[in-house]
Amino acid sequence: MASKRYAQIVGWGKYVPSQVLTNDDLAKMVDTSDDWIRTRTGIVERRIAEPGETTSTMAIKAAQAALQVADVAPERLDLIIVTSVTPDYLFPATACLVQDALGARRAGAFDLLAGCSGFVYGLGVGSQLIISGAYENVLVIGAETLSRFMDWTDRDTCVLFGDGAGALLLQASDAPGGVLSFTLGADGSGGDLLILPGGGSRHLVSAETIAQGLHYIRMNGREVFRFATRIMGRAAKEAIEAARLKIEDIDLFIPHQANMRIIQSAAKHLRLPMDKVFVNLDRYGNTSCASIPIAFCEAIEEDRIKPGDHLVLVSFGAGLTWAAAVVQWHVPLPVPRLPWWKRLLRRVGYRWARIVSRLRRTNRQFNSWWGRAVGRIRGNNNA
Ligand code: ACO
Repeated sequence: MASKRYAQIVGWGKYVPSQVLTNDDLAKMVDTSDDWIRTRTGIVERRIAEPGETTSTMAIKAAQAALQVADVAPERLDLIIVTSVTPDYLFPATACLVQDALGARRAGAFDLLAGCSGFVYGLGVGSQLIISGAYENVLVIGAETLSRFMDWTDRDTCVLFGDGAGALLLQASDAPGGVLSFTLGADGSGGDLLILPGGGSRHLVSAETIAQGLHYIRMNGREVFRFATRIMGRAAKEAIEAARLKIEDIDLFIPHQANMRIIQSAAKHLRLPMDKVFVNLDRYGNTSCASIPIAFCEAIEEDRIKPGDHLVLVSFGAGLTWAAAVVQWHVPLPVPRLPWWKRLLRRVGYRWARIVSRLRRTNRQFNSWWGRAVGRIRGNNNA
């Protein structure tokens, strides 16, 4: 009989832009204050992408870091899932841009859209594809450039969000643990509470949609808040029960980093002391799909996770959606750094992937030009 398969997290990586926007900076742009933002949200500062940075460029950096931690070459990836509410394009999928940049020749790639819950949705899907025996290595990335979709004159939204990316690499293993359970939920009747109205097939981009500001995120903060405080604890409980665990078994709770008051309310609902809750939203604000993987990486950096620990990841977001997962940690920490020559080889590999991508494009252009030229010659000869 085939042994049971588990989806272990074996690699992790994050990337945040270097540009910092503080509450005081924001107070110079809109009618707000450091005190209001801190007390109502817990946010102190957030990162903002530089002009050349996009969701895919940040996703690529987080992905490279995760592959390096796991010492897994991109050619071994079976699937790349990018979760984001701010992809580079409606299509092609940002995951395909990441696949190309990594040189992950064997990997399938798709984007997953489930609001801020996207990352936990991706973890659920990726882990099942491993547990089913379909795949060995699945990379799940959460990446966002929310700053590009912000109305910087709207104090209700612009103080909340930030940019960044995080990635976790799931790998098949026969060692028990990894993603033990997950729960996914949605209530589309609340879709209008948090929405980017323009740019899709309903409101194609036009001078009119731009004049109406439909290309900016709109949110009914109070209603989203009410929904979030109701759902976070409930979703976490469901996932804990599905893993056949009790709340007392949970060592660390890694919630979506949206608002400190929402996190505290979820912890209270679960009767979890705050020292079992990981919080970094003071530094990054709400980075939507990137929030949980960035927090996950920082929990590892801060020695908050050790082998055998049970972790709960829980999120809510646009849709409305919610998702929670229970993970049992397996990897001994700290992970030894790759030797310099392996890191160098990887860098050369990524350069090579860029060259191959360019050659493929050139080859396609040449083939198309050649096809047209031959067609013209044949047409002339037949005339
Ligand atoms: N600075 C100063 N005052 C402000 C600001 C601001 N940045 N924003 C709103 N206010 C004012 C309001 O105008 C209001 O004034 P009024 O009483 O004169 O009308 C007052 O502050 C209180 O407003 P509330 O909306 O009641 O404030 P609340 O305590 O609910 O906090 C907040 C607002 C922070 C937006 C909160 O509702 C929240 O966090 N909601 C959840 C948002 C969220 O998590 N969204 C992301 C979901 S994930 C995804 O999918 C992207």
